[in-house]
Amino acid sequence: MRNDLFELELLGGATERRFRALRPELGAMPWGTMDLSRAREEDLIAARRAWTGAAYQEHRTAVACAATLRALLEARAPVDLVGISSRFPLDEMVHVELCARMAMECGGGTEIRYDPDYVVLDASPSLSPLVRACELAVRFFCVGEAISIPLLRATWKKARHPLPRAVLGRIVKDEAAHGAFGFTVLDWALPDLTPEDLAHLGRMADVGIDFLHRQWDDLARRPRSAPHDGDVLNWMATDEYLEAAHRALEYNVRAPLKARGVPLRDRALEAPAR
Ligand SMILES: [Fe+2]
Ligand SMILES: [Fe+2]
Repeated sequence: MRNDLFELELLGGATERRFRALRPELGAMPWGTMDLSRAREEDLIAARRAWTGAAYQEHRTAVACAATLRALLEARAPVDLVGISSRFPLDEMVHVELCARMAMECGGGTEIRYDPDYVVLDASPSLSPLVRACELAVRFFCVGEAISIPLLRATWKKARHPLPRAVLGRIVKDEAAHGAFGFTVLDWALPDLTPEDLAHLGRMADVGIDFLHRQWDDLARRPRSAPHDGDVLNWMATDEYLEAAHRALEYNVRAPLKARGVPLRDRALEAPAR
């Protein structure tokens, strides 16, 4: 197992200029305008940790988008479908930088260690290219990306300061296309999928949903901090977030999957997590 430090750099020069030209709105964001003079020490640490964690999650999502793109190419997916998804890794790299810069605005990144060999779970090589592409589209897009949109949008609406508002607004705008994409892939592939393929996709969706539940159960067990003046993050309160997350899972993930004939486990019959 590797234990690398998650750190980022820019190559600079002409490469950075070309990267900046692709997304000029980043430079226009009100960097350096957050007044942190009333923030408590623990709020700053929480904000630095949250934005660094967000940068790492965006990095993971970039890997997930690239893996899905490769699988779609291997499945000879339609040119326009592949074409629009080739923009997603770029979007995610922009999000990585935005979140990392937000951590810097709050005083600097915090330490994250990880194994780069296990950033995402790839599809099984024994599956056909079409089912591999669909599995990754389901796990990374129909579950992962589709769930994050309503949650990001709610976080963006709560942001008061112009800088996090601009950053979250940019991310929300890009993510809208990512969230719908997985279902577009499914709609394209459905005529060629067998009931066994659909059952496999259902199991894989449940793997992704189980992962979300574990994260939320962990969040639910953490102590709550009361809203207070000087809160740098001003993200959603935990209970509000969890309620929105469970709602989004039902309406934005499970319902559209089931509508396409992807069979999911009936969670109403399971004991609630403690
Ligand atoms: Fe993203
Ligand atoms: Fe995304």
